[in-house]
Amino acid sequence: MCGIVGYIGSKNSADVVLHGLKKLEYRGYDSAGIAVVNELGELDIRHAVGKIIFLEDNLRDIPLRGFVGIGHTRWATHGEPCLKNAHPQVDCTFSIAVVHNGIIENYLELKDKLISKGHVFKSDTDTEVIAHLIEDYQKTNNDTFSSFLKALNDLRGVFAIALVNAKEPNKIFAARQFAPLILGRGQGENFLASDIPAILKYTKEVYIMNDGEVAVLSKDDISVFDMTGNKIKPNFFNVNWNEEDAEKGGFDHFMLKEISEQPLVVQETIGQRVFFENEFEPYKNELPKDVIRSISRICFVACGTSYHAALIGKFLMEYLADMPCEVDYSSEFRYRNAAVNNNVLTIAISQSGETADTLAAMREAKKRGSYVLAITNRLGSTANREADFSILTRAGLEIGVAATKTFTSQLVSLYILALYIGTCKKSISKSVVEETLEYLLDVPKQLKEYFPKYLSDIEKSAKIYSGYKNMIFMGRGINYPVALEGALKLKEISYIHAEGYPAGEMKHGPIALLDPTTPVLAIATKSSITYEKVLSNIEEAKSRRSRVVALISEGDKEAINLVNDVLYVPDVPEIVSPIYNVVPLQLFAYYAAVWLSRDPDKPRNLAKSVTVE
Ligand code: F6R
Repeated sequence: MCGIVGYIGSKNSADVVLHGLKKLEYRGYDSAGIAVVNELGELDIRHAVGKIIFLEDNLRDIPLRGFVGIGHTRWATHGEPCLKNAHPQVDCTFSIAVVHNGIIENYLELKDKLISKGHVFKSDTDTEVIAHLIEDYQKTNNDTFSSFLKALNDLRGVFAIALVNAKEPNKIFAARQFAPLILGRGQGENFLASDIPAILKYTKEVYIMNDGEVAVLSKDDISVFDMTGNKIKPNFFNVNWNEEDAEKGGFDHFMLKEISEQPLVVQETIGQRVFFENEFEPYKNELPKDVIRSISRICFVACGTSYHAALIGKFLMEYLADMPCEVDYSSEFRYRNAAVNNNVLTIAISQSGETADTLAAMREAKKRGSYVLAITNRLGSTANREADFSILTRAGLEIGVAATKTFTSQLVSLYILALYIGTCKKSISKSVVEETLEYLLDVPKQLKEYFPKYLSDIEKSAKIYSGYKNMIFMGRGINYPVALEGALKLKEISYIHAEGYPAGEMKHGPIALLDPTTPVLAIATKSSITYEKVLSNIEEAKSRRSRVVALISEGDKEAINLVNDVLYVPDVPEIVSPIYNVVPLQLFAYYAAVWLSRDPDKPRNLAKSVTVE
């Protein structure tokens, strides 16, 4: 979490850094700050609590001037969100300013040592120790680079760091250890950031730093080293994103834009891979057939929305590929004695490819001899680079903190992967492969028609249900994870308490919650083999006087009579129904949040990329 940006060149650095921070606000928005080295060769720093707009207001009143600057948008880990804990953090001499993403695990031990040497700390952050450590090493060695290297070797934990030193004003120093950091090369100017969108306006030439690398940026040069100071040749590449991908494009929020992009995202993720003449081998380059033939089990690891995609993935692997499968939260997998070995394919799902728990689970699986396949939306992410094999989803840039289009793209990849594994294992017939692919190929068109037809109905229902404090989502079979996802979307952006249950489990406890103050959202689409069972569950909820809104298939005349409100979806085969059913639930959550005046793009306490444990 947290976003960092750095600029050195001939533009006013604070303007470039502020622009970049706005693009990274999805990473955290508890506080923000910028440090520049001004014309007098002194540090000038501005902080603000809360979203970047407050920092921007502050800078409008009293601008910062200087050609070298670093900035930070914070997702608080150590110390509450307040001015003294906002980054950049400084040393005792007010010469060294540091921004940091991650956690310094041994900061208390380092802080105690530095205090005993006379350093005075002003914040509760772990970050501040970095500034004081460098200051301390500089007492015996005036060179910032070697002092930085020494300090880095003292740090334990996760970090992406950028710093400026007013005593050596024409450089920015940076380092990466388990938290993302990219470098951008321009003409007579250079950049660094936690993520590519921050610098896209200025350059498309990017280098993704590796763990254990250190960089020194000047106006005309970028040098990269390992942590012992040996030079490394960075391989820069050109990114093909545009600035517009990071804009709202006329929508009120990124989340709504991203939900409505799903027809295209599904199309892009399917791409050309499903067209075949002889053998169906869509991911033959991503996951070799001999690996598939050598495995007897799949173990998914993921967090949050990606975990829900994994639950659907399990269903698909069992149903389409006859492959035994389990699903684990990454944060649980990493600390249990998971029985994975070289007969197991561990599939890590992570849109960002930077989720700390998922990366740790991947490493644990590898250590145990398992093959690791990453399904991620980010080329060059840590998951993409560390996995044995990778499948890249094609959702494009997702800025809204709540995952929407990345979830759909994960699902599409999982359908294709299950069909591929089933084909390699000879556990699926060609006709089922062809039929399922036909259903998939139909999704973009059907979804495109969906939005204009139902948007205002969903908005009206969301308005009604936003008046409640609690809500139960229920679904069955392949739509049980969709119920979980609908509940997660609602709680994370509207702050209405919502839980998802398998409908059949209601009577084993959760039904005790039902009364007129607790409405139910039921996924009751017609093609489901448990359709009638879900109708019975709806009856049970109605008899506890809960208000019920049901997701029902177009043309359904039965369910409509049982419920108070309906959200329609196209009547499609059950196997592909999750891709359709999740869309109205995303919109339902979106409109509920908007109706309650909550910012769906930046829900409280959350961040898009969870790079700490
Ligand atoms: C929910 C959401 C989170 C993420 C989770 C995993 O809308 O976005 O629950 O799904 O933090 O993130 P990734 O997929 O980046 O590993």
